[in-house]
Amino acid sequence: MNSLLVFYSRKGTTKKIAELVSNSLNCEYEELIDTKKRTGFIIGFLKCGYDAMREKMTKLHETQKNPELYDLIILGTPNWGSRMTPAIRTYISDNKTKFKNVALFCTEGGRGGPELFEQIAKLCEKEPLSTLEITKKEIKNDNHIEKINSFIQEISSN
Ligand SMILES: Cc1cc2nc3c(=O)[nH]c(=O)nc-3n(C[C@H](O)[C@H](O)[C@H](O)COP(=O)(O)O)c2cc1C
Repeated sequence: MNSLLVFYSRKGTTKKIAELVSNSLNCEYEELIDTKKRTGFIIGFLKCGYDAMREKMTKLHETQKNPELYDLIILGTPNWGSRMTPAIRTYISDNKTKFKNVALFCTEGGRGGPELFEQIAKLCEKEPLSTLEITKKEIKNDNHIEKINSFIQEISSN
């Protein structure tokens, strides 16, 4: 299946998983760049949480790839309060009419993945072919590779 992986990462964890998935699938990818400053331990963190919980949109740097040209769009986001990031919300809202199929992944501290996926699926108006929830602990203990392989197998069997 001709796939495009689209992701947002504030601190690099989701980017690390995005790279592993896109390398394994040998697919193209697009990193979303949020123009809103989201750095800083206290203010940055609080603003991120507030914007995600209020289901805020943001302004993204212009994207390069046309999602209409792909059979599958794989969407990756950090979990912010069991919500998607404003960057992914904005991308989906702007492009979802061009999606044929979706698969979803998130990275997180440890809770809220299923709720997050439910919200993304609802916004996409599509049931995902597969989902992948990866915690930072799983990455630390090297348990993420097996999960990524199952995710890819599930995608490839469609
Ligand atoms: C504002 C904010 C809210 C978060 N909320 C959750 C949460 O509800 N559940 C969880 O497991 N992790 C939560 N996390 C942790 C992130 O999902 C986790 O660190 C993620 O891997 C970060 O991805 P990144 O390095 O690609 O930015 C939150 C992090 C931030 C900044």
